Formats: sequence, C-alpha cells, structure tokens
Amino acid sequence: MTSKIPPANGKIYVAPSLLSADLWQLGQDVQRVELAGADWLHVDVMDGHFVPNLSFGPALVRSLKKNTSLPLDVHLMVEHPARFIEPFTKAGADLLTVHLEAQDDVKDVLKQIHALGIKVGVSIKPDTDVRSIIPVLEETDLILVMSVYPGFGGQEFLPEAPERIRQIRQLITKTNRPVWLEVDGGINAQTAREVVQAGADVLVAGNAIFSAKDPAVALKQIKQAS
Ligand code: DX5
Ligand code: ZN
Repeated sequence: MTSKIPPANGKIYVAPSLLSADLWQLGQDVQRVELAGADWLHVDVMDGHFVPNLSFGPALVRSLKKNTSLPLDVHLMVEHPARFIEPFTKAGADLLTVHLEAQDDVKDVLKQIHALGIKVGVSIKPDTDVRSIIPVLEETDLILVMSVYPGFGGQEFLPEAPERIRQIRQLITKTNRPVWLEVDGGINAQTAREVVQAGADVLVAGNAIFSAKDPAVALKQIKQAS
C-alpha cells in the first residue's frame, strides 16, 4: 500500500469533513470540493463507544478511493483502532489517525499502520494534556488536535485550542521531523486564520463547508483566510 499524503511541507492544507456532507448527493459534494481545491478528504469513523455516535466505515472509503483522486484522511474515533487498521488500509485510506485515548497500545498501532505503507496520525481530545503526545512524536506523521469534543459536526470552536496548537507546534519543532499539525472542529474562515497563526497546517472543516449555500465558495474562503 502507498500513501498520497506527502511528509509535512510547510503548506496549508484544507480537508473537508464528509460528516456534514449531504449523503443523498455525496458524490456531487465530493466533486464540488475537489474542483474547488480541497487538498484531502476527511472521513470520520465512530464506533458508538469512544464517542456517542456512529458514522462511516471501510465501504465508504472503498467507494471514495474509486471515485476521487483526493487523499483520504481517515479519523478513527474508536476504542479499538487495531481491529480496523487492515480494513481501512485495504479500502484505500492514505492516512489513519488514531486517538491517544483509545484502549489499544497506540505505539504498537502506529507501527502496524506504518508497516502497511500508509501515513499515521495521533489525535488528542480537548481535555488531554498536550505533553502526553511526546512519547509518540517520533513515530507519527501528524498530530490532530480536536478543537471540539469529538462525536458530532457543527459544534462551536473551543477558545483554548489555539494555545494548545502553539504548544504542540513547539514540541513538533523540537523533533526536527516533518509532522503535520491538523485541527478538527468548529473551523470556519475566522477560526482558520487563528489556528494557522498558532501553527496549524491542516484544517478540517465540515459544517462551514457543507452547510454553506455554496460549498465551493466556503472552501475558498477558508483557503484564503489561512
Ligand atoms: C467531530 C469530527 C469532525 C467534524 C468537524 O468529531 O471529528 O471531523 O466533522 O465538523 P465541524 O467542522 O462541523 O466542526
Ligand atoms: Zn474528524
């Protein structure tokens, strides 16, 4: 397996989250954001245990892989990510992000994902100490900072997020490794600017893009703001 996601390179990327797309016309929504300049597609996976909601599985990733050339950024909000490494990798994920708060041995999970040839990310919830990512920084391609409590789209951006991003950016700089810093939750043109100034380089946005009258315009506004 290979990954379409490059090592972190200093550019700002925007990843629309399909959680807020219109499932009745998912293909059209994907094409719209692809044409408008989306960099990756963010796919939220929820197991009803790690978060109080259910969402997408490998079948959606397989279909996306066939129908779009955008890199697929899969965010696993599940208690046992180890179980899902193979199904999502085979389905075509380019990046699998697991939560530091998951029940499995996260370092081991990261190694297993890398062994399959794709990129890995580690995510932390808003109430997890930022320093707890230090032990995994050497093994990860991306840190995903949640700027809302995971589980649902359309929530308000948490004001403490930029400071957490600043601290994580410092930790990443110290490693001298290319590690993406992704932010997820409540991102719109205004918060995009704030988090980029704080050091983020991948912006996930669901509601601000797909609930807008014109998703292409909303995406471009986020890109311009960042
Ligand atoms: C929330 C998900 C997010 C969600 C973000 O648990 O991880 O990816 O789709 O949605 P917005 O941009 O609407 O906050
Ligand atoms: Zn997400």
